[in-house]
Amino acid sequence: MSAQSSPGQSAGPRKPVTLSTLNKRKQNGEKFTCLTAYDACLAAQISEAGVDVILIGDSLGMVIQGHDSTLPVTMEDMVYHISAVKRGNRGAFLIGDMPFMSYASETQTLENAATLMRSGAHMIKIEGGAWIAESTRLLAERGIPVCAHMGLTPQSINRIGGFFVQGRDPRQAESMVEEALLLEASGASLLLLECVPRELARKITEALQIPVIGIGAGPDTDGQVMVIYDLLGISPITPRFVKNFLQDSRDGIPGALRDYVAQVRDKRFPAPEHCFD
Ligand code: KIV
Repeated sequence: MSAQSSPGQSAGPRKPVTLSTLNKRKQNGEKFTCLTAYDACLAAQISEAGVDVILIGDSLGMVIQGHDSTLPVTMEDMVYHISAVKRGNRGAFLIGDMPFMSYASETQTLENAATLMRSGAHMIKIEGGAWIAESTRLLAERGIPVCAHMGLTPQSINRIGGFFVQGRDPRQAESMVEEALLLEASGASLLLLECVPRELARKITEALQIPVIGIGAGPDTDGQVMVIYDLLGISPITPRFVKNFLQDSRDGIPGALRDYVAQVRDKRFPAPEHCFD
């Protein structure tokens, strides 16, 4: 690649997506899109295709580094990948994942979140329910927007015992609604639901004022998120909620990305076969 085609230097950015954009989308009942990215080239393609949010997820531990979980991912890894995505980004809103055990104490939480924001994230994401309420409050009060990640939380995979759908048990479902409300009251600006039954995701999305984004959570959340390598059909495992958009694209990767945006916006994705009951 020549210096002229460097993703850090080509076409100017579009009007940047902000939290206000996402809040307005929720108020207007318009769906928004999110994809993971870990490098500058894909970040440029994804944002140029009109994807609203890029998540620099700790899923990079599995899809980039080849681990069998997200636990080995470090702060250094996150800083490296967030910095690369920031250089390629063309106006998408960037969420940086706080890796395993980087928010176990208050001091760690504040220092590590600040490091990710300085690297280019516009928001940080932490996994958990009621136990992350205090960290959420501390961060939000200090100007760091928080995305709370509930449902299947891969950093707790050893406690959960596997990559299972969460919230099928009525008591667990009820406590998830309460925890989501608590996190919103604590200052969370966004909620991500992973692998939960469609009805529960709908209930939580309706109960919350903040936008809710889903993966394996059905079509009723305000936004959808997918791992980019799942969308491109090159991940080794294909869970039920994944759709390969590249195989039907008539314009390679840019076409697949535009199809994803269009199908989420007009509610064709996720379809019933991608959802859990
Ligand atoms: O790390 C990640 O990419 C994620 C998505 C699977 C939602 O958390």
